[in-house]
Amino acid sequence: MAGTGLFRTKSIEKSIADTEEPEHALKKSLSVLDLTVFGVGVIIGTGIFVLTGKVAKENAGPAVSLAFVAAGVVCALAALCYAEFASTVPVAGSAYTFSYASLGELPAWTIGWDLVLEFALGTAVVAVGWSGYVRSLMDNAGWHLPDALAGREGADGFGFDILAAALVLVLTAILVFGMKLSARVTSVVVAIKVTVVLIVIIAGAFFIKSENYKPFIPKAQPQEAGGNLQAPLIELMSGYAPTNFGVMGIFTAASVVFFAFIGFDIVATAAEETKNPQRDMPRGILGSLFICTALYVAVSIVVTGMQHYSKLSIDAPLADAFKATGHPFYAGVISFGAAVGLTTVCMILLLGQTRVFFAMSRDGLLPRFFSRVHPKYRTPHRPTILLGVLIAVLAGFTSLSELAELVNIGTLFAFVIVAVSVVILRRTRPDLHRAFRTPLVPWVPILSVASSLWLMLNLPAETWLRFGIWMVIGFVVYFLYGRSHSRIDVE
Ligand code: ALA
Repeated sequence: MAGTGLFRTKSIEKSIADTEEPEHALKKSLSVLDLTVFGVGVIIGTGIFVLTGKVAKENAGPAVSLAFVAAGVVCALAALCYAEFASTVPVAGSAYTFSYASLGELPAWTIGWDLVLEFALGTAVVAVGWSGYVRSLMDNAGWHLPDALAGREGADGFGFDILAAALVLVLTAILVFGMKLSARVTSVVVAIKVTVVLIVIIAGAFFIKSENYKPFIPKAQPQEAGGNLQAPLIELMSGYAPTNFGVMGIFTAASVVFFAFIGFDIVATAAEETKNPQRDMPRGILGSLFICTALYVAVSIVVTGMQHYSKLSIDAPLADAFKATGHPFYAGVISFGAAVGLTTVCMILLLGQTRVFFAMSRDGLLPRFFSRVHPKYRTPHRPTILLGVLIAVLAGFTSLSELAELVNIGTLFAFVIVAVSVVILRRTRPDLHRAFRTPLVPWVPILSVASSLWLMLNLPAETWLRFGIWMVIGFVVYFLYGRSHSRIDVE
């Protein structure tokens, strides 16, 4: 241990040693291919399948493809920082663990608490997106759920998304039974999902009409009155009347479609379960990020070329663009692939979530009860079950886009802390072996911080408010429990 009080740090050697205590150890079984599949498995999801339509329609028009590029750049910068950390501190818990080793306990708690938000709400968002696609498939077959069980949107009074909740519970059970099973299921599902995305790109390219790209960047328009809290914070701060579209609209769109990239950071949470983390982790993270960025840009160019942005659907834009051009068969295949593909996204987010909770509990910041692995399955079954049930309830009662924005602000905040930590750790522990080194330190981390903050500022003021409330609750928990129960002094 080094430092004192709120900024005491957990030594990297201790972090690694903790993972070797048999009662608290996870199985090391993942290879670089598993990691990349895992990455692509969680990255491609509700972001591209659902949010693309909404932001093209409301914020960016065909320039949504530029929004994907902007968000991809922010993520690539962050990925370069994550990769250095993940290859230096191969312990479960992602940014939480990294910051415990570099910034100190309070910042680590902050980030851990923040990641719990990211993963828990992210799981709920994806489960709700999944349920939308499944319902659309069921509709094709003539089966309809009663409105009250079909989700919150459109329900009069009581609305519970029973499919979303059921999905979360089934995935929770799979995770409790072990990593190996879920990795195998993941690879099949990822193959289906990538095939469907390629179908959208290749088949869709034949149905593009160039007039749909005019104008590529629609002119800025005043936002409908809906309360200032829904406007991007940056526009409120700069004193201009908030607008949609135009160049600023691209950044607003980027701050939302950023959700589509979430997941590469979760690859880092599996470091402890990786056979050769020093070498494979950076390859897994950067590789999966690169593949997804290329696919997103291609998909968004094709879809906005197939259908005028103002006509894109909000629930299932990729499938509906094919329906609109008179190709319902493709639409059915895409809906099916999306429904299958979103399953793994949801599962991996849930997995990342339980692993962060597990790491925080192993350190004593949350009750240790949660970090005893199952004697037979060697999985952290207790946090998995507790959080799985909570998220299932949440998924049943939530609507999609506001939650996605909250997830994004939390994730961007984690990026900021990780980038800062890279610089600090280079100074405080220059001796550590780094299998992957972030290039051009401190410039890449500085750019990463600046670009993440920029996207955060493009999120609505109310998202900042909700995020602030969540973090305040976290501080209360830390000062009432974590601080006094921390195991940092137990050598
Ligand atoms: N990136 C994931 C998605 O788009 C979380 O659903």
